Amino acid sequence: MRTRILGISGSPRTNGNTAALIEASLKSAKNQEALVEFIDLSELDIRECKHCNECYTTGKCDQTDDLNHVAKRMLLADGIIFGSPCHHATVATALKNLMDRTGRFLHLEGKAASGFVVGRRSGVDLSLASIQFFINVKEMIIPGSVYWPIGFALNPGDIRADTEAMAMASQVGTRVAQLASILVKNPVPWSHEPRPNGEKVRFGDEWK
Ligand SMILES: Cc1cc2nc3c(=O)[nH]c(=O)nc-3n(C[C@H](O)[C@H](O)[C@H](O)COP(=O)(O)O)c2cc1C
Repeated sequence: MRTRILGISGSPRTNGNTAALIEASLKSAKNQEALVEFIDLSELDIRECKHCNECYTTGKCDQTDDLNHVAKRMLLADGIIFGSPCHHATVATALKNLMDRTGRFLHLEGKAASGFVVGRRSGVDLSLASIQFFINVKEMIIPGSVYWPIGFALNPGDIRADTEAMAMASQVGTRVAQLASILVKNPVPWSHEPRPNGEKVRFGDEWK
């Protein structure tokens, strides 16, 4: 069975450095026979969490922006790769909003996941930690990479000169796809825990 790998760019720049890294990751995932999808949050409306707690009972967000669409794509994916620019030593707002809002209701446990960050100079480690904390608390599994998945660049496209970052992005794509393939065949026990709202982890036939 072909795995489904979703790349999400949290940058407000549509063709920025984060997008270039995600594209490199997804290309590698595709080389592992995965089906890939790219969601660019710069093209979507993802507002902040209102802390209304409605999602705890309904299993979706009460707001009418694009969040529930992205959440559904995340739920359908076997592996998720998050990318963000470093903005004041944390992730960019759209990804922060996505994490805040999906983090409170979406069941992602047992999926493969990784993330990377691009910044100009300082704060990338803190931003990466923010993504990795999210992956960890959502009970997803990070395959690791031979170096931390961070890159250094300022203007759109500059990241291509950071060949180490581009190589890490490729490796992240390969490893997330490989791990997802293993996990789909051998689901971790915690991915079978009962869902309070009865939702399924995999729907299967909606993936394009
Ligand atoms: C609001 C804002 C805050 C930023 N803060 C940082 C920062 O704290 N550290 C850093 O190294 N770069 C910072 N940058 C630079 C971006 O991380 C850098 O330009 C990156 O390449 C942008 O990636 P993108 O093209 O995917 O948006 C900031 C940029 C913006 C717009």
